[in-house]
Amino acid sequence: MGKKVSESEVHSEIIVLPGDTNMFWDLYGGRLVEWMDNIGSITAFKHSRMKVVTGSIDNLFFLSPIKLGYIVHLHSFVTFTTKSTMEIEIDVSSENVNTGTTSTTTRAFFTYVALDDNGHAAEIPQLIPETDAEKAKFNEGKIRSEQRLQLLKDIKKNLK
Ligand SMILES: CC(C)(COP(=O)(O)OP(=O)(O)OC[C@H]1O[C@@H](n2cnc3c(N)ncnc32)[C@H](O)[C@@H]1OP(=O)(O)O)[C@@H](O)C(=O)NCCC(=O)NCCS
Repeated sequence: MGKKVSESEVHSEIIVLPGDTNMFWDLYGGRLVEWMDNIGSITAFKHSRMKVVTGSIDNLFFLSPIKLGYIVHLHSFVTFTTKSTMEIEIDVSSENVNTGTTSTTTRAFFTYVALDDNGHAAEIPQLIPETDAEKAKFNEGKIRSEQRLQLLKDIKKNLK
């Protein structure tokens, strides 16, 4: 049985506190990646209802700094699935609480692998893209998935 994008889509907002920043009161990149992995894994759990692990994170560019006290908006949804993997897009923007101005910070693709009780890759529900936008993202995800698999093969070969 398949699952729709809307069944596992998550929106979340977090305010940046002093413990999340560097000495310039900008949000740590690593803290943002942690928040992205957290919301991405929630989407992966909701889609698969299985144990999941983060397999890979595609290119991650930080386009604008996020200041202390800003609100961080995170949006996470499945774009593409294979037999046991979910590609999840995570969009991040920030909001200045005083002005309401928002800026795009990053967009990244996280891939989660579903595992069974023995730690082996497990079959997941396949994604059912419904809207034109979801179908377009699905087709793009298929191309990225093939490129990712090739990259993974190359990395494994070079690490031997
Ligand atoms: C991800 C992991 C479970 C894959 O194990 P594996 O034995 O290589 O799994 P398989 O070869 O059976 O691959 C299962 C599927 O995952 C995909 N895959 C495997 N490793 C992947 C990775 N690192 N990134 C993305 N996809 C991956 C395979 O292409 C395959 O896809 P399919 O469903 O289309 O067939 C294993 O490498 C692992 O546990 N990694 C550590 C995960 C982790 O701890 N993450 C937290 C941060 S350290």
